[in-house]
Amino acid sequence: MQAQLLNTENIETILSAMTLEEKAQLLVGGGNDGFAGSGAMMGNQKKLVAGAAGITVEIPRLGIPSVVLTDGPAGVHIDPTREGTEETFYATGFPIGTALASTWNTELVEQVGQAIGNETREYGCDIILGPGMNLHRNPLCGRNFEYYSEDPLLSGKIAAAMVRGIQSQGVGACPKHFAVNSQESDRTKVDERLSVQALRELYLRGFEIMVRESQPWSVMSSYNRINGEFTQQSYALLTTILRREWGFDGVVLTDWTGVRNTAMQVSAGNDLMMPGYPRQVEDIIAAVRNGTLPIADVDTCVRRMLQLIVRTPRCKKYPYSNHPDLAAHAAVTRQNAAEGMVLLKNDGDTLPLRPEIRTIALFGVNSYDFFSGGLGSGCVHTPYVVDLLTGLTDAGIAATPALTALYQAYIPFATLKLRADKDPLMWFLDQGQPKLPEMEVSEQMINSEVQHADAAIITLGRQAGEGLDRTIEDDFNLTAEEHRLLSRVSEVFRRERKPVIVVVNSGSVIETASWQAYADAILVAWQPGEEGGNSVADILTGKISPSGKLTMTWPVACSDHPSTRNFPKPMSLYDYKERENWGTPIEFVHYTDHAEGMDVGYRYFNTCKRPVAYPFGFGLSYTTFEYSRPSAKRQGDEVLLSVTIRNTGARSGKEVVQVYMQSGYSPLVAFAKTRDLQPGENETLTMRVPLRYLASLDEANSQWLLPSGEYTFAFAASSRDIRQTAKTKLPAFTEPVHAVLLPNQTNK
Ligand code: GLC
Repeated sequence: MQAQLLNTENIETILSAMTLEEKAQLLVGGGNDGFAGSGAMMGNQKKLVAGAAGITVEIPRLGIPSVVLTDGPAGVHIDPTREGTEETFYATGFPIGTALASTWNTELVEQVGQAIGNETREYGCDIILGPGMNLHRNPLCGRNFEYYSEDPLLSGKIAAAMVRGIQSQGVGACPKHFAVNSQESDRTKVDERLSVQALRELYLRGFEIMVRESQPWSVMSSYNRINGEFTQQSYALLTTILRREWGFDGVVLTDWTGVRNTAMQVSAGNDLMMPGYPRQVEDIIAAVRNGTLPIADVDTCVRRMLQLIVRTPRCKKYPYSNHPDLAAHAAVTRQNAAEGMVLLKNDGDTLPLRPEIRTIALFGVNSYDFFSGGLGSGCVHTPYVVDLLTGLTDAGIAATPALTALYQAYIPFATLKLRADKDPLMWFLDQGQPKLPEMEVSEQMINSEVQHADAAIITLGRQAGEGLDRTIEDDFNLTAEEHRLLSRVSEVFRRERKPVIVVVNSGSVIETASWQAYADAILVAWQPGEEGGNSVADILTGKISPSGKLTMTWPVACSDHPSTRNFPKPMSLYDYKERENWGTPIEFVHYTDHAEGMDVGYRYFNTCKRPVAYPFGFGLSYTTFEYSRPSAKRQGDEVLLSVTIRNTGARSGKEVVQVYMQSGYSPLVAFAKTRDLQPGENETLTMRVPLRYLASLDEANSQWLLPSGEYTFAFAASSRDIRQTAKTKLPAFTEPVHAVLLPNQTNK
């Protein structure tokens, strides 16, 4: 037949013209260049866009092009330089997922998504592998920085905004990792064992909200098992729940897995195996020929692949420029990063810095080696990173020269030493900024610095990434050197009545209770992207009023989280090497028991009223707000919630209103953020909540259930700071739950 180019009108014709070999090829990625373990890996291919994560296979006979998939989620992850050209291919480093979620501002997140989608398209990629949106089950998960929250509603709403933003640019998003990839230890083997209620109401609910509210072009299935079944080959998860119940109509692609049971993956509805091995093509062909894989299942996946490919810029032969507007995107990230920063403490209105504070003693290695983002596939090769020294200097605040010189001499040395000592298996250290040990500062130095400075800033940096979980000691908890530095600087500067400000430059929670008394102010800057130092300076100088709120609980101790008991001990990277590849059998703990059930985050801490360092939803402002005229009333299958917020302080600011339904675990059911309110100004916020999102799982009757009755809604400034309440009567709401994902449930 005359070769026809694939287009939106001829998908069935093309499908019927494809040979079995061509169909099998289309369901398997075009392979990786470089690191190619048989287990978890980062994507990397040089074929079309150097450094992108992977490609699909071209079938020229039928005009089916390859399409390019590249990492995110905090920006386009491609090689910044290429052989044979002087051109560069840097991408904007946007704030990490946790920082974006901490804005609680879906419009802002959508704007960041638009910029990321634009860079994806202009660098010749078709799908960006983000957002990352697994739940923060425990602070020790190495990839929490890429994820949003301990709460599924907040995760789902933020992810949906990101997907809408990305896809508005004509490229595809690929939310990940579906599902329950809430640890890095043993991630390609672990069986996540959890109750159906926790699975449905916590770990799947965010993905459900995201799918219903943004229709992503694709979703990435996770490496792990759930209740005994690999997600990549779970019909119940990928077809019954994701497609039939939630209405997802895109492509499911695997994470960068080794070869598994390819036929089962196809039959389950996992359309694309990435990065792709020739063996998988053979598996599909053989399984069809021996009758174990129905050709109808293959055609279902091929059809979805063709429907995806025809939407892509590469199929439309979009003339991408390789020159996205990085300057404009830098302005986007600077503004948005500041809005995600969370002010935890501000005694005596230390911040914003008073005008007479002109010189700062800047302590902490990460004041100078400031983290833009995390490690692994989630890192972005940015054109630059603005450190805190530069941010302050550009804002007209000088740093004391002697101390600055000491750190600037230390960093190159410490970096060389780190790389020289590097465990050869710590491959990901080349993918992002590694954490340098804290430099020791002598007593003499501190006593000298206080004479030349009006205040002290200490930056506490933390780094984490793909492939490894965090540790409690010297990671969640401070190191001995950090404790000493904080206590000595605090004593010396307090003696001279000079303020001490701590900036937390971390992608995840750290311990604060043991040292927060040393600081007059504490600002969580997260890993705020390439403009980080400027964004911090914008907050410290008062150019922008802080309006971020915590999206996860900051506990007094990591062990306060019930899940810590069952969080696997972080294995050395060597543990990860697949036994069949790397010898030395290691006794893996191949499962994680979610014994805590629903006791994740504030649902646990608030229900049992356990003290926390800082609660979910907490964040200070430079001004104050009054909540009035709350209302809750039913409209059809929704509840309409509204409240008026007035700025009662002396400075402008934005307020995040959180609404918790006061029943059961008192879950967050809605949130909204005001515009920047001037002193005295007010704004009425209105939120619509589908009754479905208020329902709980009624497992016995395989349904979502909200019993009829009167419900109280709390309008709050944090999960422990309720300002107003409103009641309303609601009718019963039920909706069938097709599958509750029990082991070996096929639901064909
Ligand atoms: C990695 C990560 C995934 C990433 C993919 C491609 O193993 O788990 O988030 O998108 O491989 O690099």
